[in-house]
Formats: sequence, structure tokens, C-alpha cells
Amino acid sequence: MAVVKVLSVVGARPQFVKLAPIAERLSISGDQHLIVHTGQHYDVSMSDVFFEDLAIPEPDVHLGVGSGSHGVQTGGMLAALDGVLDEHRPDVVLVYGDTNSTLAGAVAAVKMHLPVAHLEAGLRSFNRRMPEEHNRVLTDHASDLLLAPTEQAVRHLAAEGLASRVRLTGDVMADVCFRVRDRVREELPPFTEWRLPAEPYLVATLHRAENTDDPARLRKLLDALDELPMPVVLLAHPRLVARRHDFGITTSESVRWHPPLPYPQMVAAVLGSEGVVTDSGGLQKEAFLLERRCITLRSETEWPETLVGGWNVLAPDGERLDELVRRPAPDPEGQHRPYGDGDAAARVVDALTTFLHDR
Ligand code: UD1
Repeated sequence: MAVVKVLSVVGARPQFVKLAPIAERLSISGDQHLIVHTGQHYDVSMSDVFFEDLAIPEPDVHLGVGSGSHGVQTGGMLAALDGVLDEHRPDVVLVYGDTNSTLAGAVAAVKMHLPVAHLEAGLRSFNRRMPEEHNRVLTDHASDLLLAPTEQAVRHLAAEGLASRVRLTGDVMADVCFRVRDRVREELPPFTEWRLPAEPYLVATLHRAENTDDPARLRKLLDALDELPMPVVLLAHPRLVARRHDFGITTSESVRWHPPLPYPQMVAAVLGSEGVVTDSGGLQKEAFLLERRCITLRSETEWPETLVGGWNVLAPDGERLDELVRRPAPDPEGQHRPYGDGDAAARVVDALTTFLHDR
């Protein structure tokens, strides 16, 4: 098949992880691949380290949009993307996940009559208060090719009348996670300035606005972490650090605050842990793939497959955390494999080339 020209739009931390196996597969297939970084995430620990550790080529274009309200941020990306898409005229624009960068990439492309493919299509939390839920629904309906990671995602898309655009590919995050897990098991990546606790510990993250931006709620969740029977390594998103200082919330030594980790170190930290407490979609699934239990500080999940067998449990208000952590861990022997075996990126590239060929 002829070489195709794919333009990826990424901007936030989880998108860099998803981009890594796609960039690799496109390089193997010899297709042309341009990477546009919107600049939604810009701290070194939120962006550059992922490019370095996951061997992702440098972005071809950096929009440098940065932080802002949803409208300002998404609008800034939209305005900046017009010129980029016009200059490069790709065969297809590939957008990833559910961030403001995803929506901006999709809208910019359809407005210029360029085909759009959405990787990680069909996820739904059915919670319309989540900015990610609007991003997902709008992006799916604007896209020409829907690359669904799970059978559940395929069903959601079919229920919205989009079945004819869907391809089931498996989840590219499983590709990266399995590969890095194997690397990390052979050799632990270096941790600077600190070590993982020698005693049993949990890994935690908390970054969603609904959890961080209300002082009473943030205090309640941090208190719940503080009261756990083992140390908690809290990998803190910049927003969490800022809100904690704004609200003057302190924690005991049991909560070990740490900046976000590079991907291999994060995988090593989860592998070495007794489990994960999080409000992140990606980390819920990484815990599952790495066979560690997860407690999710939200009332719903886009990854319901992780709930099967008790690998993931929802605790929206941090309730019963102590009891949940003390429960025996599920048996990895019986774990099902809803996210594929680590070959999703190859399926995505096949789907892209077939889609372009058949048009
Ligand atoms: C975004 C995504 C979310 C994803 C998350 C992964 C949207 C709507 N949300 O949320 O789906 O789970 O990325 O991390 O797109 N900040 C920094 N440095 C940075 C980036 C952000 O200090 O490099 C601070 C800024 O104060 C910013 C805030 O974090 O206003 C929030 O960043 P933003 O990109 O708006 O959303 P995230 O919460 O990171």
C-alpha cells in the first residue's frame, strides 16, 4: 500500500504514552508521521521526560498554548492548528484520548475537510460534568475512523449510531505498559533523590478538578490517604500541589509527596507497591495491567473491565479506604485480558492504512 502521511496531535501526559507505540509502528511501516505538540502540558516532568524515556521523536511543531480555562486553552489550539494543517495537508489527523488537545485537533481537522481518526474512541463515563466526557463524545462524532480499545467501547459507539466507522484495535496503553514492565523487571530505572519505601506502600495520584478544587473535598480525600495503614507515595500533579498550598492542607509523614514520575519509574513504583489509589483513568488501567489492585476516587470509571474480579473498586468519597486496602488482593491467575496482548499499535496502523486505501 502507498505511504500515508499521518499527523498526530498530542499535548497532555497520557497522550505521549499513547503516541509512543504509534510513532514506532509508523516508523516501521515507513509511513510519514508528523507530531504536533499543543503545549497543554509543558513542565519537564509532565512532557519532556516522556519523549526521552519512551523514545518518541521530537515534535515537528510545538504550539506552546499552555494552561488556561477550557475555552481559552481549546480555542488557542484551534486557532494555531489551522496554519499547521494547511501547511502540511496530512492524509489523516490522528487524535488521542479525551483532553482539550484531542477536541481541538478533531475540530480543526474537520473544519479543513481532513479525515480524522480517534484513538481510544468510545469510552464513556456518562458523567456530563467531566470535561473529558464532552471531549470524547464530540471527538467521536466528528471523527471518520473510530479506533476502539475495547468491546465495551465498540458497543457505546454502536449505541450512538457510529458502528460503521469503528475498528476494534485493543488498547495501545497495554503495548507500552507491558513493554516497560518487562524492561523494568530486568533493571530498575534510577530514582533521583529518593527511593521507593522499603516497607509495603501504596501509590496514589489525585489531579481531577472535581477532587482538587473544593477545599473540603480535597481535605477529606487527603485525610483518608493519611489514615491508611501503610505509607502512601503521592505522585502529585502541579494542580494538586497548588491547591494544597492555597487551602493550607497538611498531611503527616505517612503521605510522601513526590513530583510526577517518568513512565518507567511510575511502572516500577506500581510494581513494587501493594496497590494504587487514584482518580486517573490511565493509572487505574496500568494498575490492572500490572496486576495490582486499585481504588478509584470517583463515582464511575471509563474502564469498567477493571472492576471485574475486584481489581478496581470505586470509592468516590474516599470512604472505607482503610478496609479496602486491607482486603486480600485478587488472584492474578484468574485475571481476564480485555485490553489486548500488546499489539494494538500494529492494528491501529493497519486500520489507518486500510481506511485511507478504501476511501
Ligand atoms: C489534562 C486532561 C485530563 C488528563 C490530564 C492528565 C483536559 C480537559 N484534561 O488534565 O483528561 O487526565 O491532563 O494529566 O484536557 N499545570 C502545570 N504544568 C503543566 C500542566 C498543567 O502546572 O505542565 C497546571 C496548571 O495550573 C493548569 C493545571 O495544571 O492550569 C491543569 O492542567 P490542564 O492541562 O488544564 O488539565 P489537567 O488537569 O492536566
